[in-house]
Amino acid sequence: MQGEIVLVTGGAGYIGSHTVVELFNAGYTPVIIDDFRNSQPWVIDRIAKITKVAPIFHAIDCQDQTAVFEMVKNYKNALGLIHFAADKAVGESVQKPVQYYQNNIGSLCTVLNALKEFGINNLVFSSSCTVYGETDTPVVTEQSPVKKATSPYGDTKITCEKLIQFNAEALQYFGATLLRYFNPIGAHPSGLIGELPQGVPNNLMPYITQTAKGIREKLTVFGDDYNTKDGTNIRDYIHVVDLAKAHVKALQYLDDSAEKKCSIFNLGTGKGTSVLELIIAFENINQLKLNYEIGPRRIGDVAQIYANAEKAKEALDWACEFTLEDALKHSWNWEKGI
Ligand code: WQD
Repeated sequence: MQGEIVLVTGGAGYIGSHTVVELFNAGYTPVIIDDFRNSQPWVIDRIAKITKVAPIFHAIDCQDQTAVFEMVKNYKNALGLIHFAADKAVGESVQKPVQYYQNNIGSLCTVLNALKEFGINNLVFSSSCTVYGETDTPVVTEQSPVKKATSPYGDTKITCEKLIQFNAEALQYFGATLLRYFNPIGAHPSGLIGELPQGVPNNLMPYITQTAKGIREKLTVFGDDYNTKDGTNIRDYIHVVDLAKAHVKALQYLDDSAEKKCSIFNLGTGKGTSVLELIIAFENINQLKLNYEIGPRRIGDVAQIYANAEKAKEALDWACEFTLEDALKHSWNWEKGI
């Protein structure tokens, strides 16, 4: 066994699997907890191919308190837990609000109870820029106001953040980092792991790659009449491997922190890219033409949001290493190999 154990719920998912690889690379021993509701068992084998070490994993639903306690009991000396396990489709959450609250908040309660029961004091939580809602300015810092959620998904992230903050206040030795992701894209450079949307993708990047592959007939750009440089929405697209590395840094930050508390970090590149810019960059870097058309706006979309990520750079000694072009190349490389 290598270094200190780190429990990773949702560790077979898109960001979870990339984080497991980076934990191995940093000398930790990740333990994957995943019920494969939004991932595939063969991802575990792919991780092993990359790291040359078969990860330990437990097929457990994080809402199952008995199973979670049984499992965590065996890892009392774990350095901490990274919590990815949650439902995360904004549109689906509008159709299935009860499922989203029950799973996203219920799972977190189970995890927090288990951490307290067995004395594990470091939690890294997967949050989202969605908590900022319709922002007053395009660029947001961690001090930007958390707005009223526009979806059940967003509200579960806001609620989970509050629950973790109160838990940190209640427990003397418990510390947490809340990582607010912007728009993760890309895949591992090996092409062995990447984003695996179930069914028709909600997110832009997998829809682009599936269109390029011919799985989807064409991409619809949701509106080009926004008040932005080219009328399409602007987002902060961050390479998933850069995002994964930030999780390792966030855990180390907690481990090094004398004073245990709850810290919030924006994880983005600090650059805004429009939908049309992303499409054109994808076509250029991969030397192909994408079939797309302009369609109506999507309800709930904000015109533009991207990160001021200076706090994470400073406190976590972390910075993005991959470019947007790298992410677009890696996404296409992954899609071709699925
Ligand atoms: C990006 C842009 C669309 C699809 C969501 C969640 C957020 C996070 C990332 C979890 C938007 C446009 C999209 C398409 C399009 N997920 N688009 N045609 O909405 O910024 O954020 O995913 O943490 O929490 O809210 O990402 O990829 O859906 O959309 O034109 O077929 O692409 O309008 O401007 P979004 P997205």
